[in-house]
Amino acid sequence: MRASVGDNARVRDVGLTPELSVELITGSQAESGAYPASPVHDVYRYGWLRDGSWCAHAMDRVDRHASAAAWHRWVADVMLGHEHRLARALEAVRDGAVDDQVMPPARFTLDGEEEPVTEKQWPNFQLDCYGFWLWSLADHVSRSGEMEPRLESAARLVVRYLVAAAEVPCYDCWEEHPGHRHTSTLASVAAGLRDAGALLDDAEARERAESLRRLILGPEHTLASSLIRFPGDTRVDASLLWTFVPYALLPGNSEIAVTTIRRIRDELHVPAGGVRRYQGDTFYGGAEWILLAASLGSVAIAQGDTDLALLMRAWIEASANAAGHLPEQIADRPQSPHMLAYWQKRWGQTATPLLWSHAMYLILVEDLSDAARDEHPARPN
Ligand code: BGC
Repeated sequence: MRASVGDNARVRDVGLTPELSVELITGSQAESGAYPASPVHDVYRYGWLRDGSWCAHAMDRVDRHASAAAWHRWVADVMLGHEHRLARALEAVRDGAVDDQVMPPARFTLDGEEEPVTEKQWPNFQLDCYGFWLWSLADHVSRSGEMEPRLESAARLVVRYLVAAAEVPCYDCWEEHPGHRHTSTLASVAAGLRDAGALLDDAEARERAESLRRLILGPEHTLASSLIRFPGDTRVDASLLWTFVPYALLPGNSEIAVTTIRRIRDELHVPAGGVRRYQGDTFYGGAEWILLAASLGSVAIAQGDTDLALLMRAWIEASANAAGHLPEQIADRPQSPHMLAYWQKRWGQTATPLLWSHAMYLILVEDLSDAARDEHPARPN
């Protein structure tokens, strides 16, 4: 039994399975095609481009292409419906007049509208999710073989936006630390532009992706052969794992990959537990994230360390509540117990189920079965 951030006394009697995760993700998908970040948590009831694109990718991995396709159509319609917003953002970038309100948001209502502006609003200008949407769309098209004119128009629109805005300082993928050029954000944008550039045969997008890749590997974003969070902050952030898997922006055996992943294991992986976002995190106490444990498992497989991947899978499965639902974080060893209490008072229990946690769990399970298949290929008849 574990202490999740939101539920300290649970008895686990049902258990998490991949099938349950698939049902949860598809069953929570709105008719519009949007996936809510969490179907039951008030603050998480929006369609985040980031979370939803990971859910769609998980659905593609388990051959539920129709669910992924519905998500991508929803995003495409939202983008095309907000063309004026993207055009205004491009002007703002050109005129050096960027502010949080003018830049398009990271999340929408499930009907594709912008969230009403309130005092409680959480920061919304994040570029990584636009890059990740392009990456997941290109991957979806290559797996399902389906490309539609409106998907193509929306992808071209987002490519234009990112080619211009890629290096504008923004919030990171955790919706924190405004005003920085985050290494992990640049990686998402580079991967999205690279793959959308190939899909759309857009040379400018491909060149921009390559220049961003070089920027990431340059002196501002690295120190002693390790990627760092952003220029001036030499900590690692576990979201940097995605630079290697799934983005493959540099080989997993390169010195930078090996050093960065080792640092994430040494500094953020809690022994016999999950993975923290970064040192000093205080959100819900800065606990251990399910989805990052899954990412570490997928990266470990790419490095040939299946044992670590199996440990991550076992920890995730032991972290589910009685209904088999996964939370965002597990607070067995929070970095700041005081801030755990602060967030519980402010927002209540942590979002459970968090669909992104279930998506990453499914991706890890798929990566493990691919690795097992590679190790013991089926004999030809
Ligand atoms: C995370 C974001 C995520 C959002 C919705 C926030 O707590 O930092 O990365 O997109 O929740 O799940």
